[in-house]
Amino acid sequence: KVKDDKRSRQQIWEEKQLRNAVVGSNIDEIKVENSDRYEYVFDTEATIAFTSDQEDELPEEGETLSTEDARLLEELERERSRLLSIQETRKLLPVYQYREPLLKAIRDNQVLIIVGETGSGKTTQLPQYLIEDGYTAGGKYQIGVTQPRRVAATSVATRVSDEMEVILGQEVGYSIRFEDKTTSGKTLLKYMTDGMLLREFLTDRNLTKYSCIMIDEAHERTLATDILLGLIKDILPKRKDLKLLISSATMNSKRFSEFFNDCPIFTVPGRRFPVDIHYTLQPEANYIQAAITTIFQIHTTQKLPGDILVFLTGQEEIESMRENLEEISQKLGSRIKQLLITPIYANLPQEQQSNIFQKTPKDCRKIVLATNIAETSLTIDGIKYVIDPGFVKENSYVPSSNITQLLTVPCSKASVDQRAGRAGRVGPGKCFRLFTKWSYNNELEMMPKPEIVRTNLSHTILLLLSLGVKDLLNFPFLDKPSIPSFTKSLENLYILGALNNKGDITKLGEMMCEFPCEPEFGKVLYSSAIDERCNGTLSECLTIVSMLHETMSLFIGKKKEALSSIMSEVESDHLFYLEIYNQWKGVGYSRTWCQDHKIQFKTLLRVKNIRNQLFNCCKKLGLIDKDKEALESRSNDKEKNSRITKCFISGFATNVAKLGPTGYRTTGKSTGGLSISIHPSSIVFQNYKEKAMKPYKAILYQQLMLTSKEYIRDCIPVPEESWLTEMMPHVFK
Ligand code: CDP
Ligand code: MG
Repeated sequence: KVKDDKRSRQQIWEEKQLRNAVVGSNIDEIKVENSDRYEYVFDTEATIAFTSDQEDELPEEGETLSTEDARLLEELERERSRLLSIQETRKLLPVYQYREPLLKAIRDNQVLIIVGETGSGKTTQLPQYLIEDGYTAGGKYQIGVTQPRRVAATSVATRVSDEMEVILGQEVGYSIRFEDKTTSGKTLLKYMTDGMLLREFLTDRNLTKYSCIMIDEAHERTLATDILLGLIKDILPKRKDLKLLISSATMNSKRFSEFFNDCPIFTVPGRRFPVDIHYTLQPEANYIQAAITTIFQIHTTQKLPGDILVFLTGQEEIESMRENLEEISQKLGSRIKQLLITPIYANLPQEQQSNIFQKTPKDCRKIVLATNIAETSLTIDGIKYVIDPGFVKENSYVPSSNITQLLTVPCSKASVDQRAGRAGRVGPGKCFRLFTKWSYNNELEMMPKPEIVRTNLSHTILLLLSLGVKDLLNFPFLDKPSIPSFTKSLENLYILGALNNKGDITKLGEMMCEFPCEPEFGKVLYSSAIDERCNGTLSECLTIVSMLHETMSLFIGKKKEALSSIMSEVESDHLFYLEIYNQWKGVGYSRTWCQDHKIQFKTLLRVKNIRNQLFNCCKKLGLIDKDKEALESRSNDKEKNSRITKCFISGFATNVAKLGPTGYRTTGKSTGGLSISIHPSSIVFQNYKEKAMKPYKAILYQQLMLTSKEYIRDCIPVPEESWLTEMMPHVFK
């Protein structure tokens, strides 16, 4: 990047070349996601494209610049001063003062717990100190930092590459599921989701690539983080040179120390301003409404600057509040100062996620509507007010019914305290809790429940088994899951064919582990190529499985609108997704087609990428050739569609609802069935309601959401009940 005037001129020239090159070529095809112009320059494909026949001269020193060049130069100057100020900011962070003692403590101990306030620089600075201290041994080793959330992994990697003045994906990169932005042989520092590091154990049992692993945000206690801690504990004696750093917000660090033989805890004293806490006098029945009122109360009575952070439970709540706020502020017009409303949640398209870091313009107030992503993993500067309804969405798995509910539950004390702290980073702040003080003192749990005790463990157990961990009950768990939870998981894996009746992992089970997706999807793909009852459908199943990973951000408007503009009739959500992809592919993956049909182009690009990866995996496993042989057995479209349904039955036999006298019920053996409704967004629902189609006897669903009502989402009808017994006799007979 720009260091002196001469480089600036060089840069101007490169930028011009680049502009010429990019015209007419499809930028997305060369996989540049964040349109940072430096990335194009260094992307090999782009380099080839623009160095071919350009003859533009680098301006001589002293030569007068054209207005266009002068403007570019100015832009580059601005970038340079921005980079300089980033360097200054680094030195102001609390960890900077402790750089030396920290590095010494790391040298002296194999495992170290690091505790510090959010925003003190643990995530962004520590790994850089490690590089500076020689832990990458000139490129021989990597430093790996795990994050529970994808958003945090990508945004932190972006920030750190900026600080180190390198291009994202080179020295500093990230790896999240289906997206690997690292360069082998070059990347020194890799941010990744905890799930990705877990998968790396499959290929490298001793993590030999790494000299240091930092398990960040360990207090979140995600399933993957817990398992990682157990697995790493196991390899530490074998890898004496491996350093393990566990960083955590202030809560609960003792547990980690005890788990690692009372290893030392390094506390970075934080810088925190006092935060005034306010409670409501009565419980608020409608916390959304209460939050909106509070926002406007703050906005109209409190001085600027001072941004507001609101903690909500999920995408739907956030989006509807955003609409609400926009509508109200439009009505109020110039009577109030402007609001800048920025949402942040996991499914928000990546290009919109960075909006929360935007500097708030003068005379304006930023309102960040966030899930508990903003509790610890993201630091947003300028927040002075926090509004906290005190709820969080949490998975809760009930082994006896084999059902995972996504429930909105009250936060723990530790969480609400953490949230309040977000208001005191830049100066004294205020936190408005939309619940009573009594409730805080008497009703809230002390700590959040770790994910491992409230989730379905099937996938994790399969992974552990394929890593050769036989004695599951004696695996070093920070918190041990319950026995029913273990047995149910083993049963699920047995149904899937991943385990034999002795509980050993089968060939098929090993194969399912190879896929970078849930084993159920792995089974679908396997069946679509190998199983004579339904094969010859691999290509279709690959597309559907890939689409199912991205359905949350697929449509710009309502799904129904997209449906009517794409096709007149379709039986299932699965076939609708297949048709969307095929039509898009048919028009050369066109962006305009997406705009015309109200579909997110970026999402489809991601689907294409996922499909490619799954395709390569199938190829590696030899499934592609098998599928080709089977293609002949498919006579027509109807036959094809029934085969696709059967493939999904082979993977999702536990996700079948049957029609009874009172509507659909799940087919859980032990529960006798839970009464469920088809979600209105499903094609199947629309067919029944609007086209008055006769209900099918059975329906397979991808998702069961237990919210206000028990809804199933993304459904495919099973027209013949006999297909169930044909495909999965051990479940349905
Ligand atoms: O990990 P910890 O919470 O201790 O702090 P951090 O994430 O390393 O953040 C340190 C500082 O970097 C924060 O004060 C933010 O201002 C800045 N930062 C940023 O500007 N953009 C990011 N994506 C992440 C951090
Ligand atoms: Mg952090």
